[in-house]
Amino acid sequence: MAVEHYAVLNDGHRIPVIGFGTFAPEKFPKSMAEESTRVAIEAGYRHIDSAYLYGNEVEVGRAIKEKIADRTIRREDLFYTGKLWSTFHSPDLVRPALEKSLKDLQMSYLDLFLIHTSVEFKPGEDLIPVDEDGKYLYNNTDLRDTWEAMEQCKDAGLVKSIGVSNFNRRQLELILNKPGLKYKPVCNQVECHLYLNQNKLLAFCKSHDIVLVAYSVLGSSRDETFGMSKGAPVLLEDPVLKAVGEKLGRTSAQVALRHLLQKGIVVLAKSFNPTRIKQNLQVLDFQLSVEDMETLEGLNRNMRYDAMPMWADHPKYPFHDEY
Ligand code: A2P
Repeated sequence: MAVEHYAVLNDGHRIPVIGFGTFAPEKFPKSMAEESTRVAIEAGYRHIDSAYLYGNEVEVGRAIKEKIADRTIRREDLFYTGKLWSTFHSPDLVRPALEKSLKDLQMSYLDLFLIHTSVEFKPGEDLIPVDEDGKYLYNNTDLRDTWEAMEQCKDAGLVKSIGVSNFNRRQLELILNKPGLKYKPVCNQVECHLYLNQNKLLAFCKSHDIVLVAYSVLGSSRDETFGMSKGAPVLLEDPVLKAVGEKLGRTSAQVALRHLLQKGIVVLAKSFNPTRIKQNLQVLDFQLSVEDMETLEGLNRNMRYDAMPMWADHPKYPFHDEY
């Protein structure tokens, strides 16, 4: 099955099907995100994914600005995704949060702005606020009110497209069925890989013309401080995946990425290593056969690397539902 370089979103804009992920655990200096973004753009990535929470928008924005200044790219050729963090769900905080990101990035607009997750925290300076006993300080704004404020950001020309991330089917339906809905979410960005195929959520999204964007496609960087499952199997070392790669003369990462692309999923590949950054982009010049696709489907075990278990008691925690 051929894979195009772009997918068309339900609002008419186009999204490059391979994006460069910039999240890294705290121990990595933010300068690595900056240097890697530069390398990624030079290698040919035209879709960069970050978020206010990642704390690297100043650095990522600087790399993008530099690559525009040296004429490697034009702004209109680059697709940048940012995300509304969970302390800013109150409708009056949405636009100021976006404007802060735009200022940090030195951009006049984002291509895509997502609600980062349905879980919401108390507004304030702390991005993940806790009380004196270490208990998370949650909030519970109606997601439809947050969505209306997202729609207003699009109407104001500050973002081209709006979507969501880490939403389950029920939460997507809440938005889709909102009285007076002006814009549907263009995408739902979720964890998705060979061990978590998300087939039910994918079918639901496709039936509503919502693109599924996959993160942790290579099985995640497993930062245990961030709630990642300890002792989880390493996806890229899976013997079945490795065997398919060896047969085709491709790396496990390339096969894992290609598998998702052939299912119509947009993939985000994070690497801060120049060789792997380039390698992960070389996935449009080969195909997996129907048999190989089926073999790889067989690896699914509905296993999340990042189930965000510490927030499981939030009323809008998304992963109690089957999908
Ligand atoms: P590195 O940055 O050293 O390449 P995430 O879960 O945040 O998406 O992280 C992806 C993980 O996969 C990172 O640890 C990254 O490490 C690693 N990785 C990225 N590309 C490849 C590749 N082609 N082969 C092996 N590991 C990779």
